[in-house]
Amino acid sequence: MERANFGSKIGAILAAAGSAVGLGNIWRFPYEAGNHGGAAFILIYLGCVCLLGLPIMIAEFTVGRRSKASTGKAYSILAPDTQWKWIGYLGVLAGALILGYYSVVAGWTLEYIVEALGNGFAGKGAEDFVASFQSFSQDPVRPLVWLVVFLLATHFIVVKGVKKGIERSAKILMPMLFILILILAVCSMTLPNAGKGLEFLLKPDFSKVDQDVFLGAMGQAFFSLSLGMGCLSTYASYFGSETKLGKTALSVGVIDTFVAILAGFIIFPAAFSVGIQPDAGPSLIFITLPNVFQQAFGAIPYLPMLFSVMFYVLLALAALTSTISMHEVVTAFLNEQFGLSRSKAAVIVTSFCMILGVASSLSLGIWSEYTLFGLGCFDFLDFLTAKIMLPLGGLLVAVFVAWYLKRSVSYDEVTNYGLQKAPYFPVYMFILKYIAPVAIAMIFINELGWI
Ligand code: PFF
Repeated sequence: MERANFGSKIGAILAAAGSAVGLGNIWRFPYEAGNHGGAAFILIYLGCVCLLGLPIMIAEFTVGRRSKASTGKAYSILAPDTQWKWIGYLGVLAGALILGYYSVVAGWTLEYIVEALGNGFAGKGAEDFVASFQSFSQDPVRPLVWLVVFLLATHFIVVKGVKKGIERSAKILMPMLFILILILAVCSMTLPNAGKGLEFLLKPDFSKVDQDVFLGAMGQAFFSLSLGMGCLSTYASYFGSETKLGKTALSVGVIDTFVAILAGFIIFPAAFSVGIQPDAGPSLIFITLPNVFQQAFGAIPYLPMLFSVMFYVLLALAALTSTISMHEVVTAFLNEQFGLSRSKAAVIVTSFCMILGVASSLSLGIWSEYTLFGLGCFDFLDFLTAKIMLPLGGLLVAVFVAWYLKRSVSYDEVTNYGLQKAPYFPVYMFILKYIAPVAIAMIFINELGWI
């Protein structure tokens, strides 16, 4: 059977960017930056994106397009009868675990859409937003309902086959999201006291940089770029032969980073403006943003409502393009590896993630006393995946492409069989071979205290 392809080069870029741009940029990036001191974290993050993220993304693209298979199968095709297949399996597991807790937050966006539609933010102040977020996220029922709704939406899209859907929706939604967050960033920066937020964002305070910042920034880079779990390598298996791997990686990296930084320009001025600490954690955007809408547009009736609804709808859709990409990796694996039909495979994935999601959601409320290594289920899954599994997956992909695959295979993929120039090739291989593995290993060893 002819393997489906994305219809165009720009379609390939936008689909990969659709996976990359999600809650990681707008929800996770600001609170990680807030927890780790702002501008200094952001600089280290940018370093991680350029030095580790982009080369590893090209490596994942190489694996996917060369094998023309999802990540669960790709390594068995490129390296038959070896243990390299475990890179694929590790990625599949990471995908399922991330989907479990990510869907909880994706579900929150739905609650906020409904709340905004009912004009529920009107007349509220900062304390009210804090209180209502706390009571909602700790509620034993409401977040679970939204979690289930969100997972079912992901489920049905994946079952229906996503290639056309992913590409087409990404082409419309990505530019819309972009424009809206630009408008919001401008509004946020004009709020009273916004200057303190800008300072936090732009003036690095290196005294705040401890070991933890490096692991945080590296984990965030992998998470945000959808790297280390074979998601982008699976998408690359749908790339046409004319898609340029280097250029696509650069475009995805730039779009993803731009959205994250813009999210920072919305959140921090807004947080400082209403006196909310930037290290408020996962609740940060759900508290500050409704406030921005109220304060910036409150003078005109219904305008805050309009902006809130639009923002949370786009956030939910950005999350959806990401959850689809994770679900697809796991479903394709069960389908190809065990011969299950796609719909049966998808049912297993959705059910598994619902169980994880319920445990994650309840760990923020009535199950908060059940912990593993001192972390509740939600925090534990976030730590395990973003800070351990994804960087480890990235390290293994780098080693696989640089040390196992023939150099000519990498060269052929990067140059589209010699049709394109890739003057960066020697630098790229050098980074993959030495710098990325050593840097990731060093960060691990330092942070996790393995020696
Ligand atoms: N990159 C996505 C985000 O920033 O929201 C999250 C994600 C998607 C992580 C797909 C990993 C993945 F494979």
